[in-house]
Amino acid sequence: MKVDVDYKKDVYTRAQELVSELGEKLGRVPTAAVITFGCQMNARDSEKLIGILKVAGFSIIEEESADFVLYNTCTVRDNANQKVYGHLGIANGFKKKNPLMRIGLCGCMMQEPTVIEKIKHSYRFVNLIFGTHNIHKFPEYLVSCLEQDDMIIDIWKEGTEIEENLPVERKYSFKSGVNIMFGCNNFCSYCIVPYVRGRERSRDAKEIVRECEKLASEGVVEVMLLGQNVNSYGKGLENGISFPELLKEIEKIEGIKRIRFMTSHPKDLSEELIQVMKESKKICRHLHLPLQSGSTKLLKRMNRCYDKEQYIALAKHIREEIPDIALTTDLIVGFPGETPEDVDDTIDVIKQVEYDNAFTFIYSKRTGTPAASYEDQVPEAESHVQFNRVLEVVQEMARKRAAVYEGQIMEALIEEMNENDPSLVSGRLSNNMIVHFPGDESMIGSIVKVKLNECKGFYYLGEKVD
Ligand code: SAH
Ligand code: SF4
Ligand code: F3S
Repeated sequence: MKVDVDYKKDVYTRAQELVSELGEKLGRVPTAAVITFGCQMNARDSEKLIGILKVAGFSIIEEESADFVLYNTCTVRDNANQKVYGHLGIANGFKKKNPLMRIGLCGCMMQEPTVIEKIKHSYRFVNLIFGTHNIHKFPEYLVSCLEQDDMIIDIWKEGTEIEENLPVERKYSFKSGVNIMFGCNNFCSYCIVPYVRGRERSRDAKEIVRECEKLASEGVVEVMLLGQNVNSYGKGLENGISFPELLKEIEKIEGIKRIRFMTSHPKDLSEELIQVMKESKKICRHLHLPLQSGSTKLLKRMNRCYDKEQYIALAKHIREEIPDIALTTDLIVGFPGETPEDVDDTIDVIKQVEYDNAFTFIYSKRTGTPAASYEDQVPEAESHVQFNRVLEVVQEMARKRAAVYEGQIMEALIEEMNENDPSLVSGRLSNNMIVHFPGDESMIGSIVKVKLNECKGFYYLGEKVD
């Protein structure tokens, strides 16, 4: 079915009317929930989706029993997909009890035609499906959805326009993600992201700075600049500036106290960036630099455009220039053709770089990517054996690195109350480590000096110092 909205009427006004009619039928304010899977990009998109639902008049909750449930999906690995199907089963159970309920799906997984076919045939109760390129159309879909109970599907193959003014409901009052670019052009041979997020498009620097200024005026002290490869920011923009230049512009904004970014592709990391980070008082002492594999042979097959030696030289150079930096990474185990010797290379890099932390993933075959058709796929049992070898070294290094800062005083941004002990707050250090220390709710969002009394492996216990 094609979306048919009365364009003459303001879409939000119509949505509000429909939500209020729904409220009359229910005898209470209708609720909505956005359930998010995947990366920071998706998390940021969800804040926009929640913003739209809130403007429409929904009360936002986190439970899947809501009157409107939207799943913002991820498809980077197969287990991300499987999770979504599981959740759809749960939502269907709620819909059977609440026939006025509406269920929507959006995000990366929806850009895959095979997924759409499967949902059309096996999940008929779904009301709305849209993809990554048209979230700005959500208010219109919402209206159609509230007017009837059919399945609306609208998937765009490519994104061209960058919508600048969507309402946003931020999860945290004091920190925020900021998209600086969309899509990816790198086509790493295992990765589906370029297919589901489209070609790389950078946002205008002025728009980014304006957004950061607005966030600062609303009390945000930390921004996380988001892109699949922030180091190539600005390419393709007329009169575009480079990523390090963009960082310098954001640094000038008074209320912004901390700047983070992700992700950095090693092949595009410039000396200029290292120097800007080194000089900066605001850019956090953390660099996420995905390695994927330490084997030059595999890196070539992965289309990563660097080899083992180049990566090690880059990482060591960064550590020399910025000694207090935390280096973290992503690793894939079980890529087609991987032998135990290739994993030895990965372990060698982990030991030489001494990562502060690493996310290790078992290779997942993604239909449509070049690596999916490679014949030498690694059996799952073998991947698990190698995964455990890698994990052990990752943990050993992380423990070693964490212990380095024991006893020091560092600044922490207090993010939340400790989940297990209500007398403690949890703060994040510039190097991305977490410290728990005595405090109360009023401190959330402030940056304080903390003595890191005791390293507990991957986090610290500390105390506030004046
Ligand atoms: N743009 C980022 C990565 C985004 S995806 C970058 O290049 O650094 C996040 C991580 O998921 C990747 O770094 C990779 O380690 C992992 N990943 C991507 N595709 C995968 C696959 N098919 N199987 C397993 N892990 C994968
Ligand atoms: Fe995927 Fe590579 Fe792009 Fe990262 S850089 S999103 S791993 S294709
Ligand atoms: Fe997943 Fe899409 Fe992010 S596939 S990792 S949510 S870009």
